[in-house]
Amino acid sequence: MALADKQSKWVLTLMIIEETELATTLATIILTNDYGMSVEIINFGARIKSIKFPVNNIPTEMTLGYASPEDYLTDDFYLGATCGRVCNRIAGGKFELAGQQYQLPVNDGENCLHGGDNNFSRRYWQIDKKSLTSNSVTLLLMSVDGDQGFPGTVNISVTYQLSKDNQLSIKYLGNTDLATVMNLTNHAYFNLGEQDCQSLHLQMMSSTFLETDAANIPTGNIIPIAETDYDFREPVSIGKRQQNTKDESLKAKQGYDHCFILDNTAFEESKAVLTSLENQISLSVYTDQPAIQLYTGFYLSGQFSPYQGLCLEAQNYTDADNNKHFPSNVLKPNQQYQRQIIYAFE
Ligand code: BGC
Repeated sequence: MALADKQSKWVLTLMIIEETELATTLATIILTNDYGMSVEIINFGARIKSIKFPVNNIPTEMTLGYASPEDYLTDDFYLGATCGRVCNRIAGGKFELAGQQYQLPVNDGENCLHGGDNNFSRRYWQIDKKSLTSNSVTLLLMSVDGDQGFPGTVNISVTYQLSKDNQLSIKYLGNTDLATVMNLTNHAYFNLGEQDCQSLHLQMMSSTFLETDAANIPTGNIIPIAETDYDFREPVSIGKRQQNTKDESLKAKQGYDHCFILDNTAFEESKAVLTSLENQISLSVYTDQPAIQLYTGFYLSGQFSPYQGLCLEAQNYTDADNNKHFPSNVLKPNQQYQRQIIYAFE
């Protein structure tokens, strides 16, 4: 089925979880297809634990992950995670909505990162048992009014579906009983079976990016990428770019950790393509979200090394809640939050 059909046939029903159904134990779901691709999802953080794709007929890991589901309970890197209620940074952990000020926990210097201390990546999500098939699963989360300082009780679902043609679709649905803000993304680190993301090539359909300060907070300026090291309109070797750059921000941040604004092309046109020449694999990212946070993983440490994988976090513009000229994160009670990301492997 073509991508466009897949999107237009997306019929929406958001399941609501009962308090009595709250999960407190780890569970793993494995999605498979006949091509030999498999995807492991865990309920803790509604995370992608593993994506295996055949390389020379050998199932090969495409993402960075821990060996056991328990390891995710203490993860600091958001490996494969669903990030929210608002992903990436909110300056000072503060925002205003309908004339009221909200203060969120600050967990990244003076700022709020990925939704606060006890964000969605650290919650047990409920597996909707009725949704379970060999290639699909839906996970549910209720986040109550005041959770991490955000207004409104929201109900959210994330559906992972693996197609026969090796596309992993992620669909987010959400609703709220009070006006709130929402920006969900997936934080998988891709290496396409290589040791490091630096040997991969990346192409992104983006003509501008958000300028940020030393704390990774957008200044509000939207910068054209032409003739800069932020131009990925043709495929670029990540490592060569990072090592040779003269750009002060890239040098200071030791790589990419920037929000790229996507050109307004149709859903069925890929927004980013990551390629492993060594393994002859490409990952195409399709999304209806307006931006991608490209993060090349400098902060990975412990059992991982810097740059061992990179994230292509399809999302709204970072810190939209404090920049009125960015597209809004506001979700009202009469609206439904609905977003999609597809990771397509070839
Ligand atoms: C952020 C990085 C942060 C990382 C956490 C990314 O989305 O942009 O600054 O270190 O998430 O693992």
